[in-house]
Order: sequence, then C-alpha cells, then structure tokens
Amino acid sequence: MPLIELPQTQRLRALHAEMRRATAPRETFVANANCVIRNVLELCLDQLPYCDRSVQTPVGATYLGAELDEPLCAVSIVRAGESMEFELSKMLPAIPIGKILIQRDKITKQPRLFYSALPEDIAQRHVIMMEPMLATGGSALMAISELLKKGVQEKHVVFANILASPEGIKRVSARYPHVTIVSSSIEQQLNQEAFMIPGIGDFGDRYFGTISSGGQNGQQVEAAV
Ligand code: PRP
Repeated sequence: MPLIELPQTQRLRALHAEMRRATAPRETFVANANCVIRNVLELCLDQLPYCDRSVQTPVGATYLGAELDEPLCAVSIVRAGESMEFELSKMLPAIPIGKILIQRDKITKQPRLFYSALPEDIAQRHVIMMEPMLATGGSALMAISELLKKGVQEKHVVFANILASPEGIKRVSARYPHVTIVSSSIEQQLNQEAFMIPGIGDFGDRYFGTISSGGQNGQQVEAAV
C-alpha cells in the first residue's frame, strides 16, 4: 500500500511541537494545524494524475505547466475531518466536498455511521478523504467502505491524515491495499484507551474549541463553557 509521510523537516517539527503542546490555546492549535493540513493536502494533490498545460506568460513566452487530468472531489469524515476543508477550499475553491458522519463510541471506541452525503458522480472521481486521526482505523475503514459502495475505485482514494498509528495503518492497508495514505506523522503506538502516543489529544475538540486545552497525557477533559 502506498504510505507517504511528509518529510520531517525542522519547520514541520516546530509546527507539531506547538500543535501537540497540551496547554496550547485554541488559536495556536488551529494556526499550526492549518499549516500542517496545507502541507498534507499539497502532497495528496501531487499523487493525482496530471496532463501538460501550456500557457502564454505576460512577456509572450510559453510556460509548460500541468493541470489535473481527471475529476476530483473531497470527502471529510465529520467532525474532525471538517477541519481540513478550510485550507482545501482556499487551494481549490470549486472542489465538491462530500461528508460522512462517523462517531467513535467514547467507551467501546467502535465507530458508528450516522450520515453520508456525497457528490452524485463520485464514482467517476478521485477522492481526497480527509480525516486527521487514524487511531484504531475503525472510522477510516468504515468511511472507505462507504466510498467503495458508491462506486469509487479503491486506487482513486487518497487519505489525507495528520497523525497515524502503526496499528491503524496496518489495519487499513490490509483491507484496502490500493488506498494511498498521506500523513504528517506516523506515531509510536496506541495506548490502552486508543489514544495515539505521543499524540495530540482529541483533534476535533481542540480545533473547534469544544475543550479548554489538549488535556493532560492525551486524556480528554470536559468542555469549557
Ligand atoms: C476521532 C477522530 C477520528 C477517529 C479516529 O473521532 O477524530 O475520527 O476518532 O479513531 P479510530 O481510527 O480509532 O476510528 P471521534 O469519533 O471522537 O469524533 P470527532 O471527529 O467529533 O472528534
């Protein structure tokens, strides 16, 4: 299975340090996460098929560039995946964005599918599937299964991810070997509560401000209202 990790540059490590810091305020988390998301999405877009495109420059010369050769859409796994829509929409303002609402049970960690709204011609498109957290892999497996049921080709799915556990990668790649996973970090392991280590806490809560901080030791804390 194609698994691509962003180059672990000093800049990326600095972004991760700020984003993962348990006491980082929401605005710090979001600003740093958006930079990482942008890098991940750029790398995802680089996995797609392109054809040549020549343009005339203002000085009358020809530049041989490229353009996407096949239709594309994105699908976010609600809720945390919606965090990736903001940067994507800046990069590709016209891209169709489907949604799949999957929530992991807080106790059992098992995912449940509640809702799905996808572009009607999704079977003809490549799909950037946006889900920042790949922990046990249950949510990602369920989402990919939904896409394939709608006729999407497995090799046309590019999974845009921020943190991935080795266990989750193994599970997804065993079931769907032709899905490409692009991640900014392959983590060390999952702990007994199915949190990634070193991890980041609950990405959705931190991005959307439904928690006061990252919590201690990756545990969730009650939302501050
Ligand atoms: C979290 C996270 C992923 C999922 C990953 O979502 O955002 O969607 O768990 O875990 P898995 O790989 O073990 O399935 P959660 O269901 O808590 O919802 P949220 O997006 O609202 O945070």
